[in-house]
Amino acid sequence: MPVPAKPPTVYLETFGCQMNELDSELIRGHLRALGYQFIEDYSTADVVLYNTCSVREQAENKAYSRLGLIGKRKKAGEQVILGVLGCMAERDGADMLRRFPQVDLLCGPGELDRLPALIDNVRRTEGASRHERIALAGNKSRRSATLAAADDNLELLDLSRAFDPSAPGSDRRSAYVRITRGCNKFCTYCVVPNTRGAEVHRPPDSIVDECKRLVDAGVLEITLLGQTVNHYRYTHGLAVDAQGRELPQVGPGLAAFRAEISARDNVTSFARLLERLHNEIPALARIRFVTSYPRDFGDDILDVMAACPRICRYIHVPAQSGSNRILKAMNRGYTREEYLEFVGRIQDRLPDCTIAGDFIVGFPGETDADFEETVSLVRAVPFKNNYIFKYSPRPGTVAITRFEDDVPTEVKKLRNNRLLDVQAEVSAKAHAMWLGKHVEVLVEELRDHGAAPGAGGDAVEDSSHGEIDGHSRPAKTRRIHGDSSDLAHPQSKGIELRWNRPRAATRHGRQAIGRSGGDLIVAINLDDDDQHTGPGSLVTVKIASTAALVLNGRLAPSPVASPVASAS
Ligand code: 5AD
Ligand code: SF4
Repeated sequence: MPVPAKPPTVYLETFGCQMNELDSELIRGHLRALGYQFIEDYSTADVVLYNTCSVREQAENKAYSRLGLIGKRKKAGEQVILGVLGCMAERDGADMLRRFPQVDLLCGPGELDRLPALIDNVRRTEGASRHERIALAGNKSRRSATLAAADDNLELLDLSRAFDPSAPGSDRRSAYVRITRGCNKFCTYCVVPNTRGAEVHRPPDSIVDECKRLVDAGVLEITLLGQTVNHYRYTHGLAVDAQGRELPQVGPGLAAFRAEISARDNVTSFARLLERLHNEIPALARIRFVTSYPRDFGDDILDVMAACPRICRYIHVPAQSGSNRILKAMNRGYTREEYLEFVGRIQDRLPDCTIAGDFIVGFPGETDADFEETVSLVRAVPFKNNYIFKYSPRPGTVAITRFEDDVPTEVKKLRNNRLLDVQAEVSAKAHAMWLGKHVEVLVEELRDHGAAPGAGGDAVEDSSHGEIDGHSRPAKTRRIHGDSSDLAHPQSKGIELRWNRPRAATRHGRQAIGRSGGDLIVAINLDDDDQHTGPGSLVTVKIASTAALVLNGRLAPSPVASPVASAS
């Protein structure tokens, strides 16, 4: 390819979950290394890429509207390459190309290692007929439930992650690391098993290595990602490459979890993986993981969490419904009683562990009585927050073919709002338990003025309830709770935490905002002379007041020798 006079510019926008955010980060690193330059303006970029999400319809609609914007650029005669990446590319495929002729390439989540080649192909064939260009689109559904998944170039994409400390964004102290791809669960409402394929686990050595390199580059907090992260399980000695390195491997069926897996020497269970990361990387201040599946979360994992102080005591474990009838129709594989039993085990072993989840309201056939069961489950568990979604029928799922979407939109909305209100009460109570306690906070940002919640100002959610409009949304916003319709997984982005200005300007000064190990949002009022609490610092805070969304406090000397301090 002739070297272009100036580097091609790329605009990349991400929809949906943390998996997508991580994929986008890897894409950025990969394309940057090849000379592409990333810009924030979709209207001038040479290449526009949308990394899409199919989990709910609204997220898809948003992506479709973006395609329209680029269509206009093309109609105006501009030369621009438009690529659709991620789950919509995988699910919509040929249909999308038919409906949106402006799309030049599709690349499913299992094909991202091929993206540079696909872009290159489009660039080389500019002027070729549409028919020829479509033939170059990403070949989908490559992943399968066989060990062919082990021959996995995607692994290289994760491993080749850029660790250049001078690269843009490398000053971040938090990073995601994927441990498992795909999902084997087939909840009836969910597109993920179709779009991301079967569960494939990465070799533990690759994961430890990646985490070590991130920590060497300055990362303090790593979140391990998997759709059902506690199902991580790697059996050694099954598949190696020509150099003897272990390869990714397809996950076992649920039956494997019935046997005492952690007892086997040739298996790295999730508990063992956590323990390895904790013990082998002492400078890693925080280890988190999302998302857990309520079944098969063994006591071995809870015991490792109890024994390892740098593993955050936070479990995001979606219940989805409190009604056994609906859980069955969802094919979740557990009952309300089993969910509560799990919560009891968490509380016995880790009394200070925070719990969060997801719920779907308005699933087909959900009656008022079923919904009341959900309300009572939310009240029965001290959830720090829940992400609440209105059921959205998704093409390709069992639910859309088997069940009629019979709960009227209005009823879905009412249930959604009622559950949000109940959750706000539950969150306020869960937060109140932290009053007077010390928590360790990883600071994410500083604000120059504003007031502490409960001291003249309140934390509020963005009234748009998760809608992020336009191409200019803030790079990092924070979802607290709500119907976050364009989000596939929590903690990714969405509702922005903002502070109401105090009514009278009685309080000025700086505030630091960060999260505790239990993922609670903490606002810290800083004294004028405190210059050392910038983003990325780990500080101890004494909680002085609490509200439904945030804890508020002041810096305190570390009450006990912090494991973090001794580690770093
Ligand atoms: N409709 C509504 N919510 C859904 N989720 C997944 N699929 C759907 C759907 N079809 C929610 C679940 C899941 C979260 C990521 O998104 O609560 O945990
Ligand atoms: Fe898998 Fe989670 Fe989707 Fe169920 S909801 S199929 S566990 S990704």
